[in-house]
Amino acid sequence: MALPEGFIEELKIRNRIEDVISTHVTLKRAGSNMVGLCPFHSEKSPSFTVFPATRGFYCFGCGAGGDVITFVMKAENLDYMDAVAYLAKRAGIEMPEDDFQKKQDSGVKKSRILAMNRDAARFYHSMLSKPEGAAGLSYLRSRGLSDAVIRRFGLGFAPDEFTLRSPLFLNHMHGLGYTDKELVGGFLCSASQKNGRLYPIFRNRVMFPVIDTQGEVIAFGGRVMDDSKPKYLNSSDTPAFKKSRSLFALNFARSHCAERMILCEGYMDVIAIHAAGIPTAVATLGTAMTQDQAHIMARYTKEVVIAYDMDSAGRTAAEKAIRLLDAVGVQTKILVLDGAKDPDEYIRKKGADAFRLRLEGSENQFDYRCNAVIAQHNLEDFNDRLACIAEITALLGTMHSDVEREVYIGRLSEKLGVSRESLKNDIQRSKKKKEILQKKEETKRMYEVTAGIGDRINPDKMKYRSAAAAEETILGILLLYPERIAVSVAQNHLTEEDFVTAFNQRVFTYLQQCIKEHSRFDMGYLGEAFSEAEIGCITKMMVERASLTENGDTVLSDAVQRLRAEAGKVKRNAENATIEDIDEIMRRKRASLT
Ligand code: CTP
Ligand code: MN
Repeated sequence: MALPEGFIEELKIRNRIEDVISTHVTLKRAGSNMVGLCPFHSEKSPSFTVFPATRGFYCFGCGAGGDVITFVMKAENLDYMDAVAYLAKRAGIEMPEDDFQKKQDSGVKKSRILAMNRDAARFYHSMLSKPEGAAGLSYLRSRGLSDAVIRRFGLGFAPDEFTLRSPLFLNHMHGLGYTDKELVGGFLCSASQKNGRLYPIFRNRVMFPVIDTQGEVIAFGGRVMDDSKPKYLNSSDTPAFKKSRSLFALNFARSHCAERMILCEGYMDVIAIHAAGIPTAVATLGTAMTQDQAHIMARYTKEVVIAYDMDSAGRTAAEKAIRLLDAVGVQTKILVLDGAKDPDEYIRKKGADAFRLRLEGSENQFDYRCNAVIAQHNLEDFNDRLACIAEITALLGTMHSDVEREVYIGRLSEKLGVSRESLKNDIQRSKKKKEILQKKEETKRMYEVTAGIGDRINPDKMKYRSAAAAEETILGILLLYPERIAVSVAQNHLTEEDFVTAFNQRVFTYLQQCIKEHSRFDMGYLGEAFSEAEIGCITKMMVERASLTENGDTVLSDAVQRLRAEAGKVKRNAENATIEDIDEIMRRKRASLT
């Protein structure tokens, strides 16, 4: 792991698991633990348990469990590093980010790339007022951009170095002290395959700098000025830029978009919308929307109006964006533009006011989806109409608000020519069906977690039921009161030799090792040595003893006695088995001799 030692420890101390979880789940005290309704599966009675002492959580219903980082990963849909960053931010701790980002490639530092990008952006922008950049300036003007807008977005022009007598960009950057390695690492230059000579990646293109919310230039997009391909060229990921987590113009939109944000496909759309006096547009950078971007948007806004191109690719991309934004609780609407392929074209053709009117009337996602379903069916055809109604009722069944559903039922019953009553009944049926299916899934999962897996993970358990039960009592208590491990172990002279089943022995050994190394035990440590299913089993041992508070020591020493008695039996059986085996071998030998 690239994170320095002690960082995660501090992170956990400053983000107490019960505090972090209680922003998602209403927790009630239960002894030294806390319980609530699991946020990861639907349930009516609480089987989700938080253990402040060992800084872990576990759900008996679905088997989800782990430490505060695992919780954030699951609840916020983040990868490990992002979850760490989330918690760091929550606690106001600085991320040791260079270590993590340095390893990305090239060995060029993020801070160096940011400085280099800023200088490159200044260079590109300055070109617009030079003879070498005249073509760029007139292209941008031909797209209706005023000088003020060009300046605000820091647009520029990358000259065509190949046709120039001297390499302007290269000389400029070298003059500022940037090395070839740095220029390559920052995706501004590339080395020729043929002769190894360095050349700029962006040539003869108008340049759109991508600026992050800190105001740093993190990347560039460059557009050709004719029909050549590729139309746009974007920076690849560098230590300073992760495409899947960046949004163009978020630096401008962020302080205006609490209520609503507009999501576009392209640079030009965003700029046109901003230029029309609506500063809330952003764009993904030449890719479909990612989960990370959805999370970022959720941080800034309640509602996203999707203003994608009106072609089939745009519609598919819109569906994906709706799904991702839905998942993070952001409302979505679709902007339908008639007579233009994208917002830029619409504004140019019909003006800013017409665009603003459109925006007010943008459909919400149910309208959009319903209309899409209806458009796919021929309502004149009896069977097709039934199919259409079935799809629509399934769609309405997923609606959370009853009031909203009522409104839709009214509207759609008219459109589809069916009574409100029968639409309602169909929706009810479709909802029931889904619920039954969900219930089945839940039961199945529950069974897997509590029964089957336990035996699979500790296969010796079947053979040595009583010994395994005693072991689990011991481990459960030790896990619950890790601070008492040393004392209890010493008092009972408990060693790993005492354990009969291999899995439980491994748990005990690991537990001791943790105490030795960190002088404490934390549920998070389990992740280093055990699989998720194994952690589930281990947590279960602990939770089943959670109600023990008073006589833990007695229960522990009783369990150790029981385990030793059982182990004795097992050993005697094993010895007997060996004698029997020898008898058997002798018998066979004799048989083969005669
Ligand atoms: N894009 C890209 N690479 C391409 C084509 C497109 O990265 N080869 C991205 C760009 O971010 C672009 C967006 O996809 O802004 C939308 O592309 P497209 O609809 O083709 O272009 P427009 O935004 O309409 O661009 P323009 O108006 O400049 O023609
Ligand atoms: Mn366009």
